[in-house]
Amino acid sequence: GVKIVTIGGGSSYTPELVDGFLKRYESLPVRELWLVDVPQGKEKMEIVAGLARRMVAKAGVPMEIHTTLNRREALKDADFVTTQLRVGQLQARIKDERIPLSHGILGQETNGAGGLFKGMRTIPVIMDICRDMKELCPKAWLINFTNPVGMVMEGINRYGEFDKIIGLCNVPIGMHKAIAELLNRPLDEVDVTFGGLNHMVFATKVVVDGKDVTKEVLKLWGDQSVKNIKGVVWNPEFIKELGVLPCSYHRYYYMTKEYLEEELEKFEKHEVRAEFVKAVEDKLFALYQDETLCEKPKLLEERGGAYYSDAACSLIDSIYNDRGDIQVVNTKNNGAIENFEVDETVEVSCRITKNGPVPVTVGKLPKAVNGLIQQIKSFELAGSEAAVTGSKSKALLALMINPLVMSQKTAEIVLEELLEAHKEYLPQF
Ligand code: G6P
Ligand code: MN
Repeated sequence: GVKIVTIGGGSSYTPELVDGFLKRYESLPVRELWLVDVPQGKEKMEIVAGLARRMVAKAGVPMEIHTTLNRREALKDADFVTTQLRVGQLQARIKDERIPLSHGILGQETNGAGGLFKGMRTIPVIMDICRDMKELCPKAWLINFTNPVGMVMEGINRYGEFDKIIGLCNVPIGMHKAIAELLNRPLDEVDVTFGGLNHMVFATKVVVDGKDVTKEVLKLWGDQSVKNIKGVVWNPEFIKELGVLPCSYHRYYYMTKEYLEEELEKFEKHEVRAEFVKAVEDKLFALYQDETLCEKPKLLEERGGAYYSDAACSLIDSIYNDRGDIQVVNTKNNGAIENFEVDETVEVSCRITKNGPVPVTVGKLPKAVNGLIQQIKSFELAGSEAAVTGSKSKALLALMINPLVMSQKTAEIVLEELLEAHKEYLPQF
């Protein structure tokens, strides 16, 4: 049987994951699922574990759900480890979103100043997990869902000593489903190639019945939105000229002004995304405590993590069964996308084998997007270096590179305020 360890097990997303494993029990027999959390997350973890056990009982499979605060105990002989932790919990996310907004720039957990700080809090923790894995379960794969996935992967790939790590995001699978819907076809009849960076990924090619239908889909790509970024409406002329399909997160860069106005209104009303998510979480945990509930509740769909379990569980299933199918993950470029160096982390379509992901050849992304993706890549590089070294000047550089910051003075102020606000989670500074 398979042993899975989920770090950040107290997350409200855990029932998603359990649901995904139960659905695949035949091909991926998970006998032990170990939830791990920090003391502050213990109460939530026990509640989630209760629901998970009821889900398992209902499914009638021999899957054990364990909980522990001792990560090293859990990691021993694991086959797969997933990370869905949030350093500093939602309280820290609120600061990442509100402090930049209070100085008139976008506040978001994976983009701009908030993204940098989430990265700097997270990278050292994931590094520690990798160190433990090397010692306690060197054959296991680490599937990292913790944001900002691009910067975290860059940090581990560059400064860590563990190779068996794959970064995962649900954005590509969501786009794939949206494209299939636009074409009125079942998902498995629509081949989509993805290339770019995490939360800055593009669908570069769509093939149906052996025919390239990318141009057709470019015309249809209009108002696809996701739960956490609503109302993305693209100008069809722009998309046609761009030549590749942008993701929802591109809205922060291509509609910065509109989005900022919207966010500033939410800031005033104390309704930024993290504040909204906190309210949803409270309701979710009230539901999870209901002894009669034995499935993931509908309310979970209010979160941005739709298809999270599909993405994570299919990835694990394909590695375990050496399926060789195509899935989109964050890994080293290895020449797949000409715009990036071989050792830079990209989000790209890969063939998934028992030896991990092998990127498919994407070729060159258009000149029209090259400026932006290079800028974000250098932001990730500077940010991950700051995270590892604790260099304030590198952190300032990262902010100055980021197109959402736009001002040296703002960068200086926001840097000081966020360093102070998060100091208990930034021991490297
Ligand atoms: C999408 C992104 C995730 C992110 C989530 C936020 O799914 O791909 O990386 O964590 O949205 O959703 P939330 O409900 O926390 O705002
Ligand atoms: Mn994501």
